[in-house]
Amino acid sequence: MKHLIVGNWKMHLGPHEADMLVKRLEQHIEADPSTEVVICPPFIDLHSVARTIDPKKLKLGAQNAFHLDEGPYTGEVSAAMLKGLVDYVIIGHSERRAMGETDALIGKKMAAAVRNGLTPVLCVGETLNERHHNLSIKVVTDQLTAGLSLLTDEDVAKVVVAYEPIWAIGSGVPATPEQIKPAIKAIRSTIEELYGESASAGVRIIYGASVASDFVNGILSIDGVVGLLPGGASLNYAEFAKIVKAVQEFSA
Ligand code: PGA
Repeated sequence: MKHLIVGNWKMHLGPHEADMLVKRLEQHIEADPSTEVVICPPFIDLHSVARTIDPKKLKLGAQNAFHLDEGPYTGEVSAAMLKGLVDYVIIGHSERRAMGETDALIGKKMAAAVRNGLTPVLCVGETLNERHHNLSIKVVTDQLTAGLSLLTDEDVAKVVVAYEPIWAIGSGVPATPEQIKPAIKAIRSTIEELYGESASAGVRIIYGASVASDFVNGILSIDGVVGLLPGGASLNYAEFAKIVKAVQEFSA
């Protein structure tokens, strides 16, 4: 299975700065078919980036999408509108859950992404308080179950699930492999239970939260982890290029 890197820019950089960062990145990244590299700039940047991006080096994703295709929903952007512009869309990021997105809504957003031919990256992860109460696995599998609930076995085989422990996001210190392993195992076995073996073999599970180049080997050595979701590090072209290089070297 190809390795996958999904850079989440969050709410940073307008169109001009986005174009500059993409240019810089492309100068520092080598195209390599073993690794798929996706960047997820803010909506406002997608159109101009899509026109200049080198598809051999980078693919494009969005950070969110509305659950309905069109209508009177001021300020929203639908998966139907993103179709043709991006390949991927992040769904259910913890920062959006914190702004009020529920599991039920996230399930509908996953269905909208799939219905419109986008590959959703479903984010799941527990807070520190939940971890301290030994609820990590329950939280992760509940979020996963709800997020996938409107999808078929065939759909699930094609999605990406990102384990993103909230307590490690933006902290500068990723979860350790020992902390990541049980969540990855639980995600895969829950999918196998609910959607069968081929869905569980097909789904791509990645890790996000304080990903930096120094941690790439340790994280990718975890059984079942096929990629990374860096946030902060994806805004720094030199560091992001280092992450990509480390993944490519790991794949070689
Ligand atoms: P971080 O963010 O890499 O800055 O911790 C990851 C994320 O929130 O997706």
